[in-house]
Amino acid sequence: MSHPAALQPLVWDQRVLSLLDQTDLPQRERWVQADTVEAVVHAIRTMQVRGAPAIGIAAAAGMAIAARAASERGEAIGPALDRAAHLLRGTRPTAVNLRWAVERALHEAATAPEPAEVAGALGRLVTRLIDEQWAADRALSALGAALLPDQARVWTHCNTGALATGAYGTALGIIRAAHERGRIAMVYVDESRPRLQGARLTVWELTRLGVPHTLVPDVAAAALMASGRLDAVVVGADRVAANGDVANKIGTYALALAARHHGIPFYVAAPCSTIDLRTPTGGAIPIEERGPDEVRVIGQEAITVPDVAVWNPAFDMSRPPSW
Ligand code: MRU
Repeated sequence: MSHPAALQPLVWDQRVLSLLDQTDLPQRERWVQADTVEAVVHAIRTMQVRGAPAIGIAAAAGMAIAARAASERGEAIGPALDRAAHLLRGTRPTAVNLRWAVERALHEAATAPEPAEVAGALGRLVTRLIDEQWAADRALSALGAALLPDQARVWTHCNTGALATGAYGTALGIIRAAHERGRIAMVYVDESRPRLQGARLTVWELTRLGVPHTLVPDVAAAALMASGRLDAVVVGADRVAANGDVANKIGTYALALAARHHGIPFYVAAPCSTIDLRTPTGGAIPIEERGPDEVRVIGQEAITVPDVAVWNPAFDMSRPPSW
């Protein structure tokens, strides 16, 4: 299926996964070609590709690449897929979409009629996952856009657009859909320290889409809410536990608390692949902790004492108040 998108940051040709390198944006639009499972693992780990749905699709592509390589070398596909699944699951622990996509790939392989058909079946699965993501993003974006007031002033966190899903976007998809209907007055994009997904990636996407936006420091959220210039907060999710607890980019919890205090609607947008009924509560969701230099250094520039101790959780947990 072809998709009516200006932004298509993830392209799968049944053999190679091409990725718009998100570590280089917005300064450079550089593509990387991943044609081994190790290259896919590297791309996920280093966040060349990131965002819960996009890393799920990338992981499925890693499985398809592993199956094709084994079959072309005349090796058994089962052990190659088990190894690939192990490597891919070890990349990033919080977003459940990655585990979900690896399991879908293993199931697809197990139900292929012939071993010779596994690589092709997994290749087609990746295409199907991209199509499903488009359908989910478009549906939730239309539903979400209808919840926003006319001429809405909206805060968003991290990056949840095409870059994060390989499709239309989730929380940013809602903003995009509302903008297409002429209903967005201003999007407040927070920087999303320490990786700056808001400043680097969401600003890049909104610029390309022509959506009016203002970049704000993370720490300005409560002040903007208190000023009466914000109608809603819209964020994505990396995993929603069975009880409704939401794991998302670090800083989401502080936004949720401030929005609650100021009576501002707070929406979490996610596809079904992000809902994890096997995890009962947020307390059981593994929270990724990343390296200290993400906090100590901006670009090439050290911003603190070189060996200062750092705590750098990549995600936090929010709980809907009425649940
Ligand atoms: O560490 P990242 O950049 O992969 O984190 C991304 C987020 O937290 C997003 O909000 C989430 O994955 C939803 S993307 C549609």
